[in-house]
Amino acid sequence: MTVIESMEAGVRTSPYVSTPARVLDVEKLTDLETLFVLEMGHGRALDHRPGQFVQAWMPGIGESPISICSSPTRGRAFELCVRRVGEVTSHFHRFRPGDELGVRGPYGNGFNMRSLEGHSVVVVAGGLGLAPARSVIQYIIDRRDHFDQFHVLYGTKTPADVLFRHDLSLWRHSALMNVMVTVDRPDEQWRGRSGVVTKLFADLPPLDPDRTSAVVIGPPVMFKFVVIELMARSLPADRIFCSLERRMKCGVGKCGHCQINSEYVCTDGPVFTYERMRSLPEAI
Ligand SMILES: Cc1cc2nc3c(=O)[nH]c(=O)nc-3n(C[C@H](O)[C@H](O)[C@H](O)COP(=O)(O)OP(=O)(O)OC[C@H]3O[C@@H](n4cnc5c(N)ncnc54)[C@H](O)[C@@H]3O)c2cc1C
Ligand code: FES
Repeated sequence: MTVIESMEAGVRTSPYVSTPARVLDVEKLTDLETLFVLEMGHGRALDHRPGQFVQAWMPGIGESPISICSSPTRGRAFELCVRRVGEVTSHFHRFRPGDELGVRGPYGNGFNMRSLEGHSVVVVAGGLGLAPARSVIQYIIDRRDHFDQFHVLYGTKTPADVLFRHDLSLWRHSALMNVMVTVDRPDEQWRGRSGVVTKLFADLPPLDPDRTSAVVIGPPVMFKFVVIELMARSLPADRIFCSLERRMKCGVGKCGHCQINSEYVCTDGPVFTYERMRSLPEAI
């Protein structure tokens, strides 16, 4: 191999090098969140697990970790739901179909969906947590025979913040699952439930604690109260799977930005069992 060939091979295998991805479709979900349908270049499939994320790179602007919000069971294209908060995410919102960006990943451990099979599954999502949760939800819908009861509990701040309204409407009218949605601060038009997401637990049917798993994704403040509800139903701590969000830089376990005690959230997580989280004082 010549020097140039070996340098090129190094670049190809470097974890910091992005692959081009193309925007196929754009859908505005709320004032702040937009859904992007993407496809990797070079005919490459993303080949992800629910709960994993990518590093989305815009040359000259920056890079951001974004959760993959579609299931690998839905084909080659994949989806990202991006909340506009700063420079990178604002630039993202300017993308139109046909535009290109760089993508590294998928990264993180994601959810081990096989380990949930045969169980009833309770998905609890708060706010933007519905984005990664949607990947889990689509996966279970597409393999519904492999799971027992399926409940989705979603809470967000106001009616204007409700994400994926179209999906929620389909899911609510589907016999495949039980979906409950609540908002903290309802307005006059809101006809649904109100209050924090833990209030929805009162309407869950009895669950067999030996054959139930929970997936919890949301802001840190939510975890503590949701876990209390799940443990009150005797769910073991090693069947409660939480996805943590931390500031990240490299996404591949090199820079230490995402470190919680002895763990790197980007490589050891972002999914941790509650049993593991209990031993990480800085986790919540
Ligand atoms: C594993 C992981 C998955 C993520 N998934 C998504 C997703 O699916 N959709 C999405 O919109 N965002 C997601 N984020 C957050 C996203 O990465 C940040 O919002 C983005 O990097 C901000 O970049 P920016 O340049 O636009 O804003 P910046 O200028 O970097 O920041 C703007 C504001 O956002 C805050 N902020 C930045 N990063 C974070 C963070 N990680 N957590 C909390 N606050 C932050 C800053 O404090 C600041 O107030 C995820 C983050 C991680 C670590
Ligand atoms: S983001 Fe660099 S080690 Fe996790």
